[in-house]
Amino acid sequence: MLKGKNIVVGVTGGIAAFKAASLVSGLVKLGANVDVIMTEHAAEFVSPLTFRSLAKTAVITDMFAEPAKMDIAHVSLAQKADIFVIAPATANIIGKIACGIADDMLSTTVMATKAPVLIVPAMNTNMYENPVVRDNIAKLNKLGYLFMEPGEGLLACGSSGKGRMPEPEDIIERIEREIGVEKDLSGLNILVTAGPTREAIDPVRYISNGSSGKMGYALAEAASKRGARVTLVSGPVSLHPPAGVNTVNVVSAEDMRGAVLANSAGCDIIIMAAAVGDFRPEKTEDEKIKKSSDFSQIRLVKNPDILAELGEKKAENQTIVGFCMETEDLITRAAEKLRRKNADMIVANNLKTPGAGFGVDTNVVTLIYSGGRESENLSGSKLWLADEILTRAAGLRNTDR
Ligand code: CTP
Repeated sequence: MLKGKNIVVGVTGGIAAFKAASLVSGLVKLGANVDVIMTEHAAEFVSPLTFRSLAKTAVITDMFAEPAKMDIAHVSLAQKADIFVIAPATANIIGKIACGIADDMLSTTVMATKAPVLIVPAMNTNMYENPVVRDNIAKLNKLGYLFMEPGEGLLACGSSGKGRMPEPEDIIERIEREIGVEKDLSGLNILVTAGPTREAIDPVRYISNGSSGKMGYALAEAASKRGARVTLVSGPVSLHPPAGVNTVNVVSAEDMRGAVLANSAGCDIIIMAAAVGDFRPEKTEDEKIKKSSDFSQIRLVKNPDILAELGEKKAENQTIVGFCMETEDLITRAAEKLRRKNADMIVANNLKTPGAGFGVDTNVVTLIYSGGRESENLSGSKLWLADEILTRAAGLRNTDR
């Protein structure tokens, strides 16, 4: 997937700089063209010769050195890069990028690139948690810079906590997800819903559920990376909106219905991954209900079933995917929902299965199809499952249903 891709690896001055050598070696083995830019401090930890031997290209440490070919090195690397990876990234380089400082080869090239920049922080826990560093990361995140979370464990400084550089294999997997992806969904319009809904009881209380939105966000992110035009209608979650996705934030089931119906016309695939609240209080009180009031008087009414409504007015060649969460009788109930809501596929999971459901990064699902197609069991990370679900949903468009 990375064969022929141009990857620039920026190495900054931290003890984890030695791990960047395995990263470069792994990328070269996968057929990528790797250029390495080291900061002056990185060269104190690992010799440029190590990277030169692994990458088989000149390693750039000095902005004013004579370039091998007559072009302006920082501009040429910035232009040809498919992705820029800074690993390890110190608090210093993160701060420089966040503040627009370009005073060496690495910071200058990062500033000149339009390629995605993946920053892999590695530093002492206190530094990583320093509010200035957190602010810089938040600012860069918002601007579209990509980050990997450092791991936890014993750090080189002797303390233990968050700050370890992720393993080179994990960084390579992330790079593959960012740029090694085939644009096989380009031309498709995909709508995804995610997260819970909140049904207000009064200005401070609401009825909701434990959906984290991770599955829906993974679907939106994967679809966008594979070239689809994606709208994500999201209930309240604490996740960053995926890059390149049109994210519409909603709160209640009725808001979600409005946003879905407003964005569903012309959609080729609709995936209802949201955990939509089935009920809402008949009346939302304008003022906070006092403890002394009788709470048993809150009457609930049914929310609209968005998936069923979409199923009713399904356009020709539109593929509709629903989710089904149960704690018992999973397959029978999922099959019943598939029929009742006129969906083409239901992704069913049992909340009681370890590694499945809300909050966790993995899922264990059964895919149930309309038209008598045999169901399938899948389990893995939500990111992996997202790709599998998308591949199957797109595949259904090309087969008789
Ligand atoms: N769904 C929806 N609107 C609702 C409730 C659910 O669009 N008001 C969608 C969900 O997004 C999901 C699917 O319907 O894709 C199934 O959701 P689930 O909660 O499992 O089923 P329900 O229809 O709520 O049925 P029940 O509560 O009886 O299990």
